[in-house]
Amino acid sequence: MDNLNQNTQREQWGSKIGFILAASGSAVGLGNLWKFPYMAGRNGGGAFVLVYFIILFLIGFTLMLAEITLGRHTQLNAIGAYKKISKKWAWVGGLGVLAGFIILSFYSVVGGWVINYIIKSLTGAINIADPEILGGMFGALVGGTVEPIVYHGIFMLMTMIIVLGGIGGGIEKSSKILMPGLFIMIIIIAIRAMTLPGAIEGIKYLLIPNFEAINIGVVLDALGQVFFSLSLGMGCMITYGSYLSKDTNIPESATVIPLIDTGVALLAGLIVMPAVFAFGFEPGGGPGLLFITLPAIFAQMPLGTVFAILFFFLVLFAALSSSISLLEVCVAYVVDEWKINRKVAVFGLGFVMFLIGVVASLSNGPLSHVTFIGERNFFDSLDFVASNILLPLGGLLLCIAVGWIWGTDEALAEATNDGKIEFKLAPLWIFLVKYVGPIAIAIVFIRSLM
Ligand code: PHE
Repeated sequence: MDNLNQNTQREQWGSKIGFILAASGSAVGLGNLWKFPYMAGRNGGGAFVLVYFIILFLIGFTLMLAEITLGRHTQLNAIGAYKKISKKWAWVGGLGVLAGFIILSFYSVVGGWVINYIIKSLTGAINIADPEILGGMFGALVGGTVEPIVYHGIFMLMTMIIVLGGIGGGIEKSSKILMPGLFIMIIIIAIRAMTLPGAIEGIKYLLIPNFEAINIGVVLDALGQVFFSLSLGMGCMITYGSYLSKDTNIPESATVIPLIDTGVALLAGLIVMPAVFAFGFEPGGGPGLLFITLPAIFAQMPLGTVFAILFFFLVLFAALSSSISLLEVCVAYVVDEWKINRKVAVFGLGFVMFLIGVVASLSNGPLSHVTFIGERNFFDSLDFVASNILLPLGGLLLCIAVGWIWGTDEALAEATNDGKIEFKLAPLWIFLVKYVGPIAIAIVFIRSLM
């Protein structure tokens, strides 16, 4: 957002690739690298991946296009955009802000783990191949009291500083180098992981669906994961789309971003699952999977320590380019609607999120016996409420707002630059956004309540 286009009142992305990189920067993050592999592992591997793909094709692309289009049309933040199509709908934007608020509270805790692992790789502490020791090391970190909170605080502070300085210059420019860097690194690491002895079992586990494993819990998790990973359902892509110039090709962007995002998630899965089987971990091992398997892989690579340092830095960068988008959506709302000074908004919101994150962090350790939703501790409950309820609900309402209130004719006129861009799948998109999206999400909700 650094290039101020003098002819319009609103800032715009410096270039087309700038937008794609920034939007993929929001999408690609801990959701792909940390969450996707352990969600897949927990939900039967291939069964989860299959359901994920079905939802991605039916709803992911559809909503990506809808959000970007709505943003560019209204040139407003999430709440303003809804308000513009109908005053009664402003609260839907508010729901998104709430989701962003909750997500960043626990996201930052995981971001803190990443910073800690950067330090562990710098000191050589994780240069170990023994799964047992690595598992113990991760458990000691997240189960601790003060240590994980300190790192969570550092991550939150970094996010606040970047958002204060403006998302522009730095992020858009560094994305151009760091995103491709991340891509190349995960390809190299995935190749190493997939050639470990016994790795084939992991590849099979991830890619061959076991249909019996599919149940409503798997479907709800996959639905939530699609929204989480693509940054959909909370107005993030509305906000980013609002900085797009009128001549960009939205259908193309809405195709490329989900493809990049899914590519990264799959590669992360192809790093973690082969290693799980090669080293004898449990596929359902939970949130520690990435942090436990990676060092074991690095220990098997020439220059492993260098790889470890570089890789955890890139993970941190990917996490920050997502966390800033989460904070920005909340800040934009408070600044626009409550007329609060930007600095106060950043520090105020960041501080409250930090405090909630403190409880989330403790719930992996001293408070782990306190459960909230089902058997979930506070950390997992935050994730569940935001990812599996608020984001899909936001998506359902977005389908109705764009498909029925704003109208698909208007939306398509915007998406195709008044017919200048060919969009062959338009009829399919109309059908998906008006009918399939809302009905499918509603069915998953109703079924999972039963
Ligand atoms: N998509 C980000 C990730 O995968 C997380 C995120 C969710 C960011 C929602 C913005 C909005 O890490």
